[in-house]
Amino acid sequence: MVTADASPEPPFFGGAFDMTSFSGPADSHPFPDGFVWGAATSAYQIEGSPLADGAGPSTWHRFTHTPGRVLTGETGDVACDHYRRWRTDIALMRELGLGAYRLSISWSRVLPEGTGRINAKGLDFYKRLVDGLREAGIAPMVTLFHWDLPAALDDRGGWLNRDIAGWFAEYAEVLFRALDDRVAWWATLNEPWVVSDGGYLHGTLAPGHASPFEAPIAAHNLLRAHAAAVQAYRTVGRREIGLVVNLEPKFPASQSSDDVTATARSDAYMNRQFLDPVFLASYPPELPGMFGEAWPVFPASDLDAIRQRVDFVGVNYYSRGVMQLDPSVPPECAVRVPQPGSVYTEMNWEVYPRGLSDTLLWIKERYGDVPLFITENGAAVADQALPGGGFSDPLRVAYLRDHLRAARSAIAAGVDLRGYFVWSLLDNLEWNHGTSKRFGIVHVNFTTQRRTLKDSAHFYAEVIRTNGAVLADDVARPEGAC
Ligand code: FCB
Repeated sequence: MVTADASPEPPFFGGAFDMTSFSGPADSHPFPDGFVWGAATSAYQIEGSPLADGAGPSTWHRFTHTPGRVLTGETGDVACDHYRRWRTDIALMRELGLGAYRLSISWSRVLPEGTGRINAKGLDFYKRLVDGLREAGIAPMVTLFHWDLPAALDDRGGWLNRDIAGWFAEYAEVLFRALDDRVAWWATLNEPWVVSDGGYLHGTLAPGHASPFEAPIAAHNLLRAHAAAVQAYRTVGRREIGLVVNLEPKFPASQSSDDVTATARSDAYMNRQFLDPVFLASYPPELPGMFGEAWPVFPASDLDAIRQRVDFVGVNYYSRGVMQLDPSVPPECAVRVPQPGSVYTEMNWEVYPRGLSDTLLWIKERYGDVPLFITENGAAVADQALPGGGFSDPLRVAYLRDHLRAARSAIAAGVDLRGYFVWSLLDNLEWNHGTSKRFGIVHVNFTTQRRTLKDSAHFYAEVIRTNGAVLADDVARPEGAC
């Protein structure tokens, strides 16, 4: 998804998609009946008690316990203590009026060694959680892998071992058999790009490897594992299963051929590396050249196997990338350029709502009319505590409002968008940033574990209550918001 330049002009994607037909905000269009309003979290980021009740350690447990890996030195030992406070958290979801909740399962709670022996107590936790959600009228979307691999499998090579496709399918099948009657949607992997890029290319995330030779192998095995789980699902499951990817439109910082080429590389690497194999059974043509001798020869039969029909794609959208050539950072050889005049969140991610509708339309154009969910969207913001209690977060409110309007525009333009999950329900452990970056619409005091609804939570509750109608008027525009 490459866009022509950094200006807000109608962009084009992948060099092939002319967006000039895009008509911009369409506030008068309501969200469809039955549109799913949700919030998302992940196991390691909120649960705490990582070794409770017979669970095995995960790669993230190891990583956070390795000095220097997390900026704040924090671990997920307590996090939001959700493992013990899940009832309180379901009550919060109810208060917000959520129709759905996206959670992930800790693989090593269920299979402490990653394969073989099932830990009944670990599985029971998720049974109770999912039952509790259903009793509250909240549909569960369950992600099987949100980055916390059993450490025992990492010891066997982790995502570099071809056998992991079978290990993942075995684990997935345990969950399908135990929970399929209570889960509305399954997602195989969360953001495989981040796993291969952060975990195996740059080493900033677990398991902390930094090798251009490993990253494509990890990416390929993630795809094989995804496909093996989908295949297993077709024999035992009756609901829906999909894949969750992170996407962002890429713009060249200038029209120089250096920047334009760098942008295309960046787009191939981040946006097409996973979806092309899943839908087209091929890798983007840029990748072998980008990785050079580190790019393996993958068997054609693998690519055929990877192309399994998915019931939906989950899109995690946060920002865009305005890219400039920088040969010092292979394989993309591109870096982001700050945009004067743009608003940036605490993650230093540019706020660019238009990119959300562009991204959804790009998927429709490139891969066809697959049902979509926005499985993550949100902002890290420095919240202001209010004297009477509560928290003011006008930037997050504006962020959500503008991205929801963009989502509605995409629906009006014909995208089959089924639902929206805000990231995140709770402030949580933002991976290698620790708790220093807060994405929650609910504030968490990590000393007392007290939960407090922020202004954005009240705003989102109103969006849900009105099925988005509140987005059409200025009531949704808080004082001081951008
Ligand atoms: C995504 C991750 C999620 C969270 C958000 C901010 O990449 O899926 O766990 O960290 O970013």
